[in-house]
Amino acid sequence: SKLKVVVCRDLGPDVMPLLLNNPRLDVVVWPHNSACERKWLLENARGASGILVMLSEKVDEELLNAAGPKLRVVSTMSVGYEHADLKALLTRGVRFGYTPDVLTDAVADLSVMLALMAGRNTKETTEAWPNFVWSPFAFCGPQLSSTPTSPKRTAGFIGFGRIAQATFARLVPFGFQHCLYTGNAKTAPDPAADAALAAKYGVKEVRRVELDELARESDAVFVLAPGGPATYHIVDEQFLRQMKKTAVLVNTSRGTLVDSDALAKALHEGWLYGAGIDVVEGEPQVGLDHPLIKAPRCVVLPHIGSATNETRLGMATLTVNNLLGGVFGEEMPAELGTSR
Ligand code: GLV
Ligand code: GLV
Repeated sequence: SKLKVVVCRDLGPDVMPLLLNNPRLDVVVWPHNSACERKWLLENARGASGILVMLSEKVDEELLNAAGPKLRVVSTMSVGYEHADLKALLTRGVRFGYTPDVLTDAVADLSVMLALMAGRNTKETTEAWPNFVWSPFAFCGPQLSSTPTSPKRTAGFIGFGRIAQATFARLVPFGFQHCLYTGNAKTAPDPAADAALAAKYGVKEVRRVELDELARESDAVFVLAPGGPATYHIVDEQFLRQMKKTAVLVNTSRGTLVDSDALAKALHEGWLYGAGIDVVEGEPQVGLDHPLIKAPRCVVLPHIGSATNETRLGMATLTVNNLLGGVFGEEMPAELGTSR
């Protein structure tokens, strides 16, 4: 008999045939172009062997219980997995697939873009342009790349995984010779590994530091750690007060890492120069009255870090291949726990 898989979003004509044309599968797809309703998911999950979810679907005890004992795999179209209860999956022997690597370059590109935008008054100049009169120092901000008069550039990374390292690689040609990062408190600093990374990038320094030093020394701070309780509001008022007045802050990971009210206050009062934000606490319910949208020199995007044609197609394909591997008891190309 056929195995049932539930798909929480139509992934389009390039990818869906991988599922729909498989004679061994009974495929149930949420029929709307919107986040799948919880009630529909719980009802349709019953008896499923596989479930394909987005970041918007909570993968918790309730869903796993609704699916029942046939469930073999949950596959998410995201690199982050804060929406999934890994313990509950593990205790039931349900495998879990996600999408690392395929989105690294797209998110690194966007992180650099936001660092550039945050320093150049992008929002203010866009609003001003019809009436703008060119003048020598209007709308000037701090230059991201190094200059003869201010040669030293330091990048700071909160979290230094694949995306952070790809972001730093892009900053090296801008003149960043110093890379500071905060590590996982559970692992010891590794100066030899840092020296090897510095040699790899051809820079003076890659060094793990405490958060306070990172805040004080960085010209651009990138928030690129996973969300969840361990990193909640890691960028808070104390952090922001220590930043350079000319520095920019970029968050392309999860909204929960940055205290939005503290950042809005910091921008209004000029503790740092600007911010580029792709993720906001409480999204997708973010209104135009959000303090960060109203804050000066703050560019806010609606979580589009991985939104390129190539990357989203890569993510969708990987998500489906993870689902197929799990459902048929075969290798999954990116299974959490075994693939990294
Ligand atoms: C996006 O935020 C993802 O986790 O893929
Ligand atoms: C972190 O999210 C990474 O993939 O580097």
